[in-house]
Amino acid sequence: MDQYVIKGGCPLQGEVVISGAKNAALGILAAAIMTDETVIIDNLPDVNDINVLLQAIEEIGAIVERVDRHTVKINGSQITGMSIDYEFIKKIRASYYLLGALLGKYRKAQVALPGGCNIGSRPIDQHIKGFRALGAQVKIEQGMIDTKAEKLVGSHIYMDVVSVGATINVMMAASLAEGKTIIENAAKEPHIVDVANFLNSMGANIKGAGTDVIRIKGVPSLHGTEYSIIPDQIEAGTFMVAAAATKGDVLIKNVIPKHLEAISAKLVEIGAKVVEYDDAVRVIGAKERLGSTHVKTLPYPGFPTDMQPQIATLLALSEGTSIVTESIFENRFKYVAELNRMGASITVEGNSAVIDGVEGFTGASVSAPDLRAGAALVVAGLVAEGYTIVDQIQYIERGYEAFEDKMNGLGAKMKKVPVDDEKELQKFMLQVIG
Ligand code: UD1
Repeated sequence: MDQYVIKGGCPLQGEVVISGAKNAALGILAAAIMTDETVIIDNLPDVNDINVLLQAIEEIGAIVERVDRHTVKINGSQITGMSIDYEFIKKIRASYYLLGALLGKYRKAQVALPGGCNIGSRPIDQHIKGFRALGAQVKIEQGMIDTKAEKLVGSHIYMDVVSVGATINVMMAASLAEGKTIIENAAKEPHIVDVANFLNSMGANIKGAGTDVIRIKGVPSLHGTEYSIIPDQIEAGTFMVAAAATKGDVLIKNVIPKHLEAISAKLVEIGAKVVEYDDAVRVIGAKERLGSTHVKTLPYPGFPTDMQPQIATLLALSEGTSIVTESIFENRFKYVAELNRMGASITVEGNSAVIDGVEGFTGASVSAPDLRAGAALVVAGLVAEGYTIVDQIQYIERGYEAFEDKMNGLGAKMKKVPVDDEKELQKFMLQVIG
């Protein structure tokens, strides 16, 4: 087990390059097994979630070849296993994308039913509703979702809630169904569009991804392709917030500025400067404290729930009272108690956090409760006076590639050290002081 030790107080300066989008990559890797031909995927982020999904894909018989750190070749012609164990689902919920992929290609699949997780109960009823609408039988027995179909037939599906996962899962299965499928009230996140573009590059016929009505004409089979994954909107947003929080000046490269608009707009509203380029954004923090605002998380193009802990951390340092309302997940304020231990003044009332901005944080030992909240605590540590130790960083490593290297490249003082390795900890502290 490792932890991050951070010496706060350094404004982030310089350039950082954003990795490929984890959440797009998860859908794309699952979809890659839907053809018997070889697929080459590039700009893959080197993060734990991706490596676990690649293992799950290998386990069922796909051939996975790492060409380099960010490129993988996948061939799904030798797949024999139709079942994904709880071992994988427990580590990474998105292994359930193999349901849609296997059901589409082989007309059968078994995947362990995911439970809730640290941020909410996360039911998957809309995925199941979609598969059933396509003609699949779906049973839940002994902790497994068991689905099979004589044939899959296109259908008109209205999603009761806007769900990224259900939209991707149903889109995959419908790509190889007979006839036309219409998904209404579909999610519009950038990674939905990326998975649709990837499937189209394999010969699928998907139109409307990125709007709330997706139209899919089923095709008999898919073929090989080469594809490059879009940049990670949330990694980029995290660096944007870190730049503003540390009163820094950072050029964040390899991004699609359009995907960052909700984040940019909030930063500008509270007084930071954001300059957009074709494939980069520069965030310049203000010398004085930023202002307060209200933020409500919403499906894309609204403010992303995956940026909620980071923006709340920034607002905790801003002047005045801000309110952050979480409307997607029911349990996404676990980090608040940790942030308050660093000097923040936040009260959670129902699904809102009422934030009274403070002038600064002080370093403390804190625990990452989940992936994005963990990243927010790191941002807090970069600002705090003195040393901050963030443990449970396995959550952070699920979704941030080389987080400490990228931060240190911008002038942060941050190191990953094994928990209980007092010597390493002291060494870092001495180095930093020296
Ligand atoms: C995806 C992202 C996650 C992000 C979330 C919301 C991936 C791998 N993960 O998660 O990082 O926080 O989108 O942007 O892409 N719901 C139902 N029934 C369903 C499905 C969802 O009620 O069948 C509810 C969920 O409990 C939640 C809401 O719908 O309240 C949105 O969930 P969803 O968009 O499905 O999130 P994920 O795909 O799990």
